[in-house]
Amino acid sequence: MSGLLLTGIGHLTTHDGDPITDAVVAIDETTITYAGKESDSPAQENRERVDCGGRAVIPGFVDAHTHLVFAGDRSDEFARRLAGESYTKIAAAGGGILSTVEATRSATEETLFDLAAKRVWTMIRGGTTTVEIKSGYGLDLETELRLLRVARRIGDELPVTVRTTFLGAHSVPAEYRSDRDGYVDLVVNEMLPAAADHADFCDVFVEDGVFGVDEARTIFEAGGALGLPARVHAEQLSHLGGAALAAEIGASSADHLDHVTPDDAAALATAGVTCVLVPGAAYTLGTPQPSGRMLWDAGCTVALATDCNPGTSYIETMGLVISLGVVQMGLTADEAIWAATRGGALSLGLENRGQIKEGSPADLVVLDAPSPAHIPYRPASNLVQTVIKDGSVIVGLGPADTARTEPPSPARLHE
Ligand code: NIG
Ligand code: FE
Repeated sequence: MSGLLLTGIGHLTTHDGDPITDAVVAIDETTITYAGKESDSPAQENRERVDCGGRAVIPGFVDAHTHLVFAGDRSDEFARRLAGESYTKIAAAGGGILSTVEATRSATEETLFDLAAKRVWTMIRGGTTTVEIKSGYGLDLETELRLLRVARRIGDELPVTVRTTFLGAHSVPAEYRSDRDGYVDLVVNEMLPAAADHADFCDVFVEDGVFGVDEARTIFEAGGALGLPARVHAEQLSHLGGAALAAEIGASSADHLDHVTPDDAAALATAGVTCVLVPGAAYTLGTPQPSGRMLWDAGCTVALATDCNPGTSYIETMGLVISLGVVQMGLTADEAIWAATRGGALSLGLENRGQIKEGSPADLVVLDAPSPAHIPYRPASNLVQTVIKDGSVIVGLGPADTARTEPPSPARLHE
């Protein structure tokens, strides 16, 4: 026997033309060799067959924006915000990002790996096959590198493709509060050159009271010179000009965009910058969502991602994100599924992923539903029945010799 054959697919989303009914997908080792009508398929002998029983099959999710390597617990902040305190006020009082920085700096690399791996296994069970992971809770050279090493190790040891982003400019750390120029110098001259070996992208939190547009431009220029394309935290809590900067420098992505304007959208579309929308953040903060509809109609490439982080969006799986994209951002179910797969892949420069197409890596999800429209429609159910990563069944049903099992939960969860 060589390779897999998924049969009995009731609804196949390929992103290479219309959905296909009565479909099959053939996989050799790690790669898709056929995806289409069963009746048009070449003979597929000597393959292990997995009968999908009329279920829908979609590409694995590509979660293009996460901050999932961290220690500590900020559930108290969530309660304080619900009682009326603002995110910005809590941050100014030393909570927020800086409280996670304190907990993360004092955690060992092994603990950080265990905590992150547990989150990523939850993501995988929810159908994620590729994830972007940012640093940003170290804010000193040694800890930022530790976070990037942990992120890369996730990709080496778990069945998931990882892209890493250096986010040393996530906040000015407490020890530089009265010397912000000194911190930007540190990021540019020491952190970035050391991080470049461990990172695929460079990010800056461009926000009122965090980093300004000119500081961000300086950091992105230094990152670009080291071969790191930009991803920009832009227009999240206020409108400061991060989206226009992303367009000006030809960033890979502009993310969040809660306060994006139609002029920004036109500039992002023209510059080919992917808009990575993270509806879990505004949902958790109880603030208005940006219009995904407006961005899509302006011609932007749109992606949806979890923004998994301990402060504003402790959401690990894509189902709720897709539902929020539909219910609160105005995308159609098909657009939201595209954004959560192909859109994310394009933002990460992974041209071959986020689609089900001959020659592409076999990253697929079998849904326990007849169509992907059930994902936004049933947001509190994990409809993921089977996950196939690079041709191997890693979650759910499959031939015994290809199924991999999740290791036991890491022991040290509360350090
Ligand atoms: O993407 N915007 C900046 N960073 C995170 C929040 C980080 C935190 O609160 O820990 C975000 O929402
Ligand atoms: Fe974020």
